[in-house]
Amino acid sequence: MISINSNYQKLKANYLFPAINERVRNFVDTQPKADIIRLGIGDVTKPLPAACRSAMKAAIDEMGTVEGFHGYGPEQGYGWLRETIAYHDFQSRGCDISSDEIFISDGSKCDCSNMLDILSKNNSIAVTDPVYPVYVDSNVMAGHTGDISSEGYYEGLTYLPITADNNFIASLPKKKIDIIYLCFPNNPTGAIATKSHLEEWVNYALKHGSLILFDAAYEAFIQNPDLPHSIFEINGAQQCAIEFRSFSKTAGFTGTRCAFSVIPKDITGINHEGNKVKIWDLWMRRQSTKFNGVSYIVQRGAEAIYSAEGQKEIKQLINFYMTNAAIIYKELEKVGFNIYGGQHAPYVWVKNPVGQTSWDFFDHLLKQANVVGTPGSGFGKAGEGYLRLSAFNSRINVETAMNRITSMY
Ligand code: MLT
Repeated sequence: MISINSNYQKLKANYLFPAINERVRNFVDTQPKADIIRLGIGDVTKPLPAACRSAMKAAIDEMGTVEGFHGYGPEQGYGWLRETIAYHDFQSRGCDISSDEIFISDGSKCDCSNMLDILSKNNSIAVTDPVYPVYVDSNVMAGHTGDISSEGYYEGLTYLPITADNNFIASLPKKKIDIIYLCFPNNPTGAIATKSHLEEWVNYALKHGSLILFDAAYEAFIQNPDLPHSIFEINGAQQCAIEFRSFSKTAGFTGTRCAFSVIPKDITGINHEGNKVKIWDLWMRRQSTKFNGVSYIVQRGAEAIYSAEGQKEIKQLINFYMTNAAIIYKELEKVGFNIYGGQHAPYVWVKNPVGQTSWDFFDHLLKQANVVGTPGSGFGKAGEGYLRLSAFNSRINVETAMNRITSMY
């Protein structure tokens, strides 16, 4: 008999989103006529921007010619895409990030999980509570945690509560933590970080020799240009942070798949002999062994996001979803719910008005309004009593969902 990676058995039975789908399927089996509106998983609904489609079509035609054919691409991604990203997303905002420090990938979920390949299990790890479940589950799978407690916390992880009392902004840990996951704009609470908050984290990380894994997948939803869009807008972050970005939500790429990570060359870790090693070198080594890159066609599509036409189109997409978020916020506020997020993020974090648990709240809305949300407790203990509603849907569905919910309260 072969042995398995028993760390997987420490996991809760199902990943959050499939668990929700199963509940919805069970409900639909009993109510096949129910007109379900899904504001659960954050999956975009609007079509791909025309600029991206044209670029991908042209790339397909190129691939049909001898001169324009592309086989394996560079593991790190094509230089023209990395240069465009480095300039547009970083240098133009004053961040000293070069195209060499960018690695194109097929998703931030993969990047932030795969990053554990190059980090030792001896690191102490902090996550917020609630948190995007991938950070926790991938550490469990990698054997970086102990078992789950009856309270739902994994041994070996430090949980930093983010609640209405602290405006969903974690306090710095009292003790030294090696690896800290931060996500801004935040999934699931929709909270946003100010520059001074990120400065506190960068100073903490520099003081303790920690690494910040900064998930900025929702950066494009920030409505205020003065708020930091990247951790690298903070002095010193290049010595202590890695950033994850994605085109999934920004440009409707959830099904097309393209993202990138920024790994500054200055970041180092210590090996078992106590010598400094560049994280960039390890990641390059990992990617060139385990990853063959994103297709040429998709990278051309991603490049088109940065064209004038692409920028205009993604602004429209984002405005559309943010208007949905504003509708959710306003409508639920009218009936007396406590609502958070939704101003710089496509997620609205809703407190149950009558003290139900998250899963009861979820079931109630599913059964009575045929609206699917995501139970806050699925993101962590401190999310209990909340529901996350996603703004990714059509206007008519969002309005109908809000009419159904508000008429219940
Ligand atoms: C979410 O709903 O939290 C996201 O869609 C999950 C993801 O991007 O992987």
